[in-house]
Amino acid sequence: MADNIEQIGSNQATGAGGDSGGASVDKNRRRTLIAWTGAAGAVAGIGIAVPFVMSMFPSERARAAGAPVEVDLSKIEPGMMITEEWRGKPVWVLHRTDGMIERVPRTDDVVADPGSRQPMQPDYARNELRSIKPNYLVLVGICTHLGCSPSQKLEVGEASGLGADWNGGFFCPCHGSKFDLAGRVFKGAPAPSNLEVPPHTYLSDTRLLIGEDSKRG
Ligand code: FES
Repeated sequence: MADNIEQIGSNQATGAGGDSGGASVDKNRRRTLIAWTGAAGAVAGIGIAVPFVMSMFPSERARAAGAPVEVDLSKIEPGMMITEEWRGKPVWVLHRTDGMIERVPRTDDVVADPGSRQPMQPDYARNELRSIKPNYLVLVGICTHLGCSPSQKLEVGEASGLGADWNGGFFCPCHGSKFDLAGRVFKGAPAPSNLEVPPHTYLSDTRLLIGEDSKRG
């Protein structure tokens, strides 16, 4: 291709002082030269872009395939919840306040599986708060009825829109399932079980790893 460009450039220089027919030929040659230069630039661009795109794909593929996801907990203020993606699913991380933790037992009588007997969590989260650390709740944000994404309803009482006795939790608008601040489903809801707690572990006080049970070596 370089030879062709050189040849065309050389022809163009030679024809510059010719007659009007020559000028027309020059014009065509100039167009051809521009086209060749553009093509060469495009090839060079692809050469740069391909390694960039290829370097992006493995992490995306790994993520989709289920690679663990690390979360910086220092950015989640008490009372706040963030959503991460793991294996294509939304995973919620709620930083429960002390008040939220105290309110969980108040729903023991109205939830269907207060002791988490159903296998919707790893063994280490089989407790009333359904967590390793009381202050952090980690849940897959998919309703166990038909897979809708419940809304967070962390406010208490009337402000939540769910009645004066609401203690905070999650509400699935699709068919009305309610879950408390531990992801436990309310009795009589269409959802048959509590929200799922995914495998997770803590790498340090401020680093959570979703998708893996044991600490990295
Ligand atoms: S999908 Fe949540 S209540 Fe039906």
